[in-house]
Amino acid sequence: MCRGFIINSLLLVYVSKIVISVNLSDTTLEQEKPELTLQFVKGGVGNIPCNVSLNQFGDEIQTVIWYKEVDKNNPTPIYTYDVRDKAIENGEHWSDNKILATRGSFRYQDEPAKLVIINLKETDAGIYHCRVDFKKEPTVNIAINVSITVSPEKVILVDDTGGYIDNYVLGPYSEGDSVNVTCIALGGRPKPNVTWWKENAILDSVSEIATRKRVKNTLYLNHLERKDLHSVYTCQASNNNNQPPLTAAITLDIYLRPLRAKIWGKQRILSAGNTYEISCEVIGSRPRPLITWWLESAQLVNTRELSNAVNYSSTSFLTFKPSMDQDNKIITCTGVHPIFNDTVEDSWKLKIHHLPMATLVFDSAIDKRDIREGMDVMLHCDMTANPSVYTVNWKYNGKAIYNNLEMGTIITNQSLLIKNLNRSKTGNFTCVGTNLEGTGESNALRLDVKYAAVCRPGQTKIYRTAVHNRVEIRCELEANPSDVEFTWKFKYNDGNIVNLPENFITSEGTVSTIYYTPSSDDDFPTLICSGKNNVGETEDACIFHLLPIDLPEAPSNCKVTKQTESSLHVECIDEFNRGIRGEFIMEVYDAQTGKLVRNVTSKDPTFVVGELESGIGFDIDLYVLNKDGKSLVTRLPTFTLNNDQAANLLLLPSITTLLGMLAGAVGVLILLAVIIVVVIRSRTPKGCNDLDENDFQDSSGRYMSMRSSKLTNKTDSNSYDSFDTDSRDVIP
Ligand SMILES: *[C@@H]1O[C@H](CO)[C@@H](O)[C@H](O)[C@H]1NC(C)=O
Ligand SMILES: *[C@@H]1O[C@H](CO)[C@@H](O)[C@H](O)[C@H]1NC(C)=O
Ligand SMILES: *[C@@H]1O[C@H](CO)[C@@H](O)[C@H](O)[C@H]1NC(C)=O
Ligand SMILES: *[C@@H]1O[C@H](CO)[C@@H](O)[C@H](O)[C@H]1NC(C)=O
Ligand SMILES: *[C@@H]1O[C@H](CO)[C@@H](O)[C@H](O)[C@H]1NC(C)=O
Ligand SMILES: *[C@@H]1O[C@H](CO)[C@@H](O)[C@H](O)[C@H]1NC(C)=O
Ligand SMILES: *[C@@H]1O[C@H](CO)[C@@H](O)[C@H](O)[C@H]1NC(C)=O
Ligand SMILES: *[C@@H]1O[C@H](CO)[C@@H](O)[C@H](O)[C@H]1NC(C)=O
Ligand SMILES: *[C@@H]1O[C@H](CO)[C@@H](O)[C@H](O)[C@H]1NC(C)=O
Ligand SMILES: *[C@@H]1O[C@H](CO)[C@@H](O)[C@H](O)[C@H]1NC(C)=O
Ligand SMILES: *[C@@H]1O[C@H](CO)[C@@H](O)[C@H](O)[C@H]1NC(C)=O
Repeated sequence: MCRGFIINSLLLVYVSKIVISVNLSDTTLEQEKPELTLQFVKGGVGNIPCNVSLNQFGDEIQTVIWYKEVDKNNPTPIYTYDVRDKAIENGEHWSDNKILATRGSFRYQDEPAKLVIINLKETDAGIYHCRVDFKKEPTVNIAINVSITVSPEKVILVDDTGGYIDNYVLGPYSEGDSVNVTCIALGGRPKPNVTWWKENAILDSVSEIATRKRVKNTLYLNHLERKDLHSVYTCQASNNNNQPPLTAAITLDIYLRPLRAKIWGKQRILSAGNTYEISCEVIGSRPRPLITWWLESAQLVNTRELSNAVNYSSTSFLTFKPSMDQDNKIITCTGVHPIFNDTVEDSWKLKIHHLPMATLVFDSAIDKRDIREGMDVMLHCDMTANPSVYTVNWKYNGKAIYNNLEMGTIITNQSLLIKNLNRSKTGNFTCVGTNLEGTGESNALRLDVKYAAVCRPGQTKIYRTAVHNRVEIRCELEANPSDVEFTWKFKYNDGNIVNLPENFITSEGTVSTIYYTPSSDDDFPTLICSGKNNVGETEDACIFHLLPIDLPEAPSNCKVTKQTESSLHVECIDEFNRGIRGEFIMEVYDAQTGKLVRNVTSKDPTFVVGELESGIGFDIDLYVLNKDGKSLVTRLPTFTLNNDQAANLLLLPSITTLLGMLAGAVGVLILLAVIIVVVIRSRTPKGCNDLDENDFQDSSGRYMSMRSSKLTNKTDSNSYDSFDTDSRDVIP
């Protein structure tokens, strides 16, 4: 306990009532050890306790005085509380101007009572004394050691290179790297402790003084591993327990190497031509890997990618359309770390199935340009298929063909044998293979069977014409190759055979045309048309029959019955053509120019033409036209009257009598003619009447009987099949 303190009334006079003087040169005070050591933080609030409790009943507090040892031997009163002659709550407070000024206040009512100093300064550190004077009890003296700590200003983090880490991320580093990271605390008194923590565990508590104002602590992270990714390391700097420590945290960033690649669905068998999406997952790479696909050494680029940043999985999807030649090729998926180039990969030996691919070829012993009738031909179907084909079928011009001994088609394994070819086998052959993938058809192999010319069926075989009428005869052969050299032969009724000279033959390919004009009734030969190509000569020649037909007779007894200056009347008394199924034609030509002036058609042989030019000559051609042809022409030269002649005719008075006489004479002539005709007809041979012929039989009857018998004989003796079809017009 401190004793001997004297109130110095000279030094301290308080509101003229209380004078407190303190003798600080009391050496006994200096020896007092402070009972209490308090630590406050700069800028904070300091509570310095002082026990003012009364020990004895009835005692009272007089004064409470606070000193501070400004220098060691010179304590200065800094605060007083005076309750002499007052109730405790009415005590008077005083504080000095220099040290506390308005920052201090005494709280007698607290237990224990205390001096509260706000806004603490570093200079507030020191030994404080609290002296309490009582009315009865001896004075109490308490010393308190107050120290002020200054918190560190901040902490900074520095990496290996000495660069500041200001984004709270350390790295990125690689797996296996070692890292030194230093935490530096600036300022603070006393020197702060700088410590490293990971979550709640302290990693490094040893800090070292770097400079006067810096304390540092270096954390050594050896051999970083995958699990260290995203670890948070916290540095704390603290120099007191009253305040939370200053902290700085960093998160560790590490690049991760890819762990493995995996192609999914490798057990699949692919079908050529289908499109697939194949996926490859690369796991464990950070940042995400570059995934590439390779077919052998060629890169495949039709890909898309999905990444999951949470589980470090990246999947690449390849769109792939395999072809049959890629069977057993290796497809590789490669994941490359974008920074370290670490590579992981997975490979897949492709199994690709495809439709059968067939190639149809001739047996090598066959010259395909020289396939002839009668030969045997072998076709081979070369098949590539995966899996193997289970059936091979054959088609001819798109229709299935089968093993058929009668047809001469023999199928063995993958070959087709066609025996004893004929031209009907010309066409396209294919083979069709079937495996589990489906069916595949081969190329069409054209079988081109060469053969000598034959007569094309269905041609006109019978030609009809009249004597002196030219007829065109057309012969069509079938031949392969179609380069045909034609030969025409005429076979006459008397058995003579004549070859037609080449220069009378017009031919192109397999068609030949000749013209023939029968010169007489006996000149109707049988025509034989044959050809020769490089295979050989025709065996089955075309045979044409040339038959006479009856043309209408020329109109007879024609004359101009009346002439005027502009018109002509023509009449024929045509016994032969009476009642014909045909027409009478009159063509009027200008006699001088030969130009056709008029062309009149009539049912009857009576014509009138008007509006002709007067006084000029005309040639009138008269003929009959029916389905068989045109009769010979009767030509009648005449003229139109000129104007004078016409007038004379009208003026002549004796003309009627002249005409009457003329008519009489003509009448007698006609009578005579009729009698002659009747006599001739009654003398015509009987055989002629057997022919049920047309209206012209009268004039042509004598020939017809002969021809008919000849033709009948011919058809009987030579059994030409073609006769059956077209001969109805001729053969009765
Ligand atoms: C203060 O104390 C010192 C020594 O204890 C003494 O010499 C001095 O006279 C005293 N001063 C007064 C004013 O009492
Ligand atoms: C204050 O002093 C009294 C009397 O000496 C004592 O009984 C009490 O425990 C003290 N209080 C504190 C808080 O030290
Ligand atoms: C007061 O406390 C400080 C710091 O705790 C110490 O350095 C000093 O020696 C103490 N003073 C006394 C007189 O005990
Ligand atoms: C970390 O510090 C240790 C000790 O000073 C040193 O041996 C090591 O090389 C440092 N490592 C790095 C990455 O700087
Ligand atoms: C610093 O930390 C050490 C070890 O934990 C401890 O002994 C020391 O008292 C601390 N110093 C400060 C000022 O906190
Ligand atoms: C990662 O996540 C994705 C999507 O959630 C998932 O499809 C994939 O299987 C995961 N990979 C691993 C290795 O867990
Ligand atoms: C990775 O590969 C790229 C390109 O081939 C090259 O530029 C780079 O230097 C490589 N990086 C490493 C770490 O090998
Ligand atoms: C056969 O094939 C050819 C082409 O190679 C084609 O021109 C011809 O029309 C085909 N014939 C048949 C009957 O399919
Ligand atoms: C060709 O041969 C087939 C039988 O193989 C037969 O039916 C056909 O009549 C023959 N055709 C000709 C033109 O000979
Ligand atoms: C058909 O195939 C079998 C087995 O491959 C073979 O032994 C046989 O000789 C073949 N026959 C012909 C006609 O090629
Ligand atoms: C006249 O007409 C007939 C029947 O119409 C025809 O056959 C004939 O050729 C024609 N004459 C001329 C010269 O045009």
